[in-house]
Amino acid sequence: MPTLNQSYVSKGSWRSDLFKGKVVFVTGGAGTICKVQTEALVLLGANAAIVGRNKEKTDAAAKDIASLRPDAKVISLPNIDVRDVNSLVTAVNKTVEELGRIDFVIAGAAGNFLSDFNHLSSNAFKSVVAIDLLGSFNTIKACFEQLRKNKGAIIFVSATLHYYGVPFQIHVGAAKAGVDALSNALAVELGPLGIRSNCLAPGPIDNTEGLQRLAKGTKDQMAANIPLQRLGTTEDIADATVYLFSPAASYVTGDVLVVDGGSWHVGNLG
Ligand code: HXC
Repeated sequence: MPTLNQSYVSKGSWRSDLFKGKVVFVTGGAGTICKVQTEALVLLGANAAIVGRNKEKTDAAAKDIASLRPDAKVISLPNIDVRDVNSLVTAVNKTVEELGRIDFVIAGAAGNFLSDFNHLSSNAFKSVVAIDLLGSFNTIKACFEQLRKNKGAIIFVSATLHYYGVPFQIHVGAAKAGVDALSNALAVELGPLGIRSNCLAPGPIDNTEGLQRLAKGTKDQMAANIPLQRLGTTEDIADATVYLFSPAASYVTGDVLVVDGGSWHVGNLG
């Protein structure tokens, strides 16, 4: 089942044809965060390519997202590991062949687990950095010609873990700090080509794999410690994504949009 539905469009925050004719290329699109980001774009007119490692999950996500708009074209590109730039190039070529172009890129493929430093092997650290950071670089590398041609925009899915010392998340914090640095440098280098690069940093978002994996305590206990007194929703992530890709953000690049209800300011896990 998709997370969003027609009520996302009918609430009227965004024009229903805002992204008509645009194509988004998404890594990690089978995970909750990237899937809802893509759902919002497709509901507002875009077509999409969903890239993932697992065939079953990637096919299912693409099918769910396609069901949101009668004329939506959403293709599944499974068995792709973002650690391998050549497999991403193949995915980009297939996207252009089937959907005609790429305007937006969501680099969201990520790996995570909780581990203290003592039990985190060098290979485990390397695996997460390779998926989150090298994978983000590879994604943009593969999409670059399309982004240049279409004066496109990038959203990296980051986190708030590296703003302070979060235990058991050394690998992810280090990787996401790198992702922010990558985005900033790309914003400066690619800005003159008309390409924008930003990060979206979700905090505690309800009904996500990240929260299930990392949460401590009940949802009520978590909400009580968040300045805005609630967990985030997937719709909060959808709205932030739509904003960053919309013309309303045409002067916004090299930025990190934190969507966490103020959590990291009070030291809550992001
Ligand atoms: C300690 C672990 C571990 C664990 C794996 N490893 N799980 N170490 N605790 N729980 C170690 C392994 O022992 C191995 O090290 C190394 O990591 C690589 O493991 P593999 O299974 O061989 O790697 P690979 O198949 O490449 O898998 C990558 C992965 C895996 C990141 C380890 O978890 C994965 O594929 N995850 C993808 C899905 C995912 O994590 N989604 C979460 C998204 S949520 P040794 O030394 O034994 O060789 C998210 C939200 C973040 O990212 C939110 C932040 C707030």
